[in-house]
Amino acid sequence: MKSIVHVRVAQSEYPIWIGAGALSGFPEFLKAQADWSRSVALIVDENVFPLHGASVESILQEAGFKVLTIAVPAGETTKSIDSLGPILSQMAQAKLDRRSAVIALGGGVVGDLAGFVASIYLRGVPFVQIPTSLLAMVDSSVGGKTGVNLPEGKNLVGAFYQPDLVIVDLDFLKTLPTREYAAGMAEVIKYGVIADRALFDSLNSVTEENRGQMIQRCIEIKAEIVAKDEKETLGFRALLNFGHTLGHAIENVAGYGVLLHGEAIAIGMRAAAHLSQELAGMPSEEVSLIEAMISHHHLPLKAEGLSFEPIRNAMGTDKKVKAGKNRWILSPKIGEAHLTDAVPSSSLDRVMKLVLA
Ligand SMILES: NC(=O)c1ccc[n+]([C@@H]2O[C@H](COP(=O)([O-])OP(=O)(O)OC[C@H]3O[C@@H](n4cnc5c(N)ncnc54)[C@H](O)[C@@H]3O)[C@@H](O)[C@H]2O)c1
Repeated sequence: MKSIVHVRVAQSEYPIWIGAGALSGFPEFLKAQADWSRSVALIVDENVFPLHGASVESILQEAGFKVLTIAVPAGETTKSIDSLGPILSQMAQAKLDRRSAVIALGGGVVGDLAGFVASIYLRGVPFVQIPTSLLAMVDSSVGGKTGVNLPEGKNLVGAFYQPDLVIVDLDFLKTLPTREYAAGMAEVIKYGVIADRALFDSLNSVTEENRGQMIQRCIEIKAEIVAKDEKETLGFRALLNFGHTLGHAIENVAGYGVLLHGEAIAIGMRAAAHLSQELAGMPSEEVSLIEAMISHHHLPLKAEGLSFEPIRNAMGTDKKVKAGKNRWILSPKIGEAHLTDAVPSSSLDRVMKLVLA
């Protein structure tokens, strides 16, 4: 059984299939792509490849495609400029052409990297996302942001590039390590805080049975936001960055891979909740609920041993900086959020003291 959420943006509309076993619909989709070339690139990381690479390769081969599998090292450091050249060269050597699809099989790192590759190879080729981590299912595979990091900061190079199809097969979660699952829950909590109080409350009792609904609800929220503001110019899409202003800086300064993205975002959300109490009127009980939810999902509330100054500097190079000011997402109450750049440095110092013990 699969559900479908449609993402509608200016130049395209595409389906996101959601469900246990959703991958089984892929052969039918492939058969319908009469204008695709018969060679495809499957980009996957070295952790996911031995677990799920062969099954996707064989679906593609049985549908008549010659598969160039490119397995990249797992982890955030792979999302770099240096990774691009060798991948693009392999694609060129295999003579992939303008109608050769790129298939991303993996977490957000592979999705962001492969999506960017799809956007720049021959100025754009078809692209399918098969997210395998919770974070990639609920967030990074939806909405068309692709890109890589620079040493100066996260996601500083990239493109908006929408896929033709996203397949969210819940069965992939069976092999996801628990720490990675928890990191994905950080983004799920974020959706509850910014857009849906009922979703937030439901996160106290996530079970195998209701997990699909939880994932679908997150995807629906993201799809609605992306439809309103694809390029993050109108203030809606920026709401998805609740917890990310400080979270990205913490992730960067800790060193990519030390704290997982979702762990850094959990700490950033705690800070954003406290700023929301001071500056947007969030009741203190709701701040406590957010902190309790973060802990309930085995996520950190603090990043220990990081000093303020490098974090302030890292916030200065975040791509969300506009006219020299950091933009913050504050929530007046769970289920609502707005954008502001009016966060006084005294308030920021206070929350940094709280989360950087
Ligand atoms: N494009 C966007 O809109 C967007 C949004 C949010 C986050 N992101 C990006 O997503 C990235 C983080 O994504 P992530 O948390 O998925 O990280 P990731 O891609 O590094 O995956 C996490 C780990 O889990 C492993 N893994 C993934 N699926 C697995 C499975 N089914 N079984 C076993 N192991 C599996 C991976 O090999 C990796 O070691 C960051 O780079 C972040 O910037 C992008």
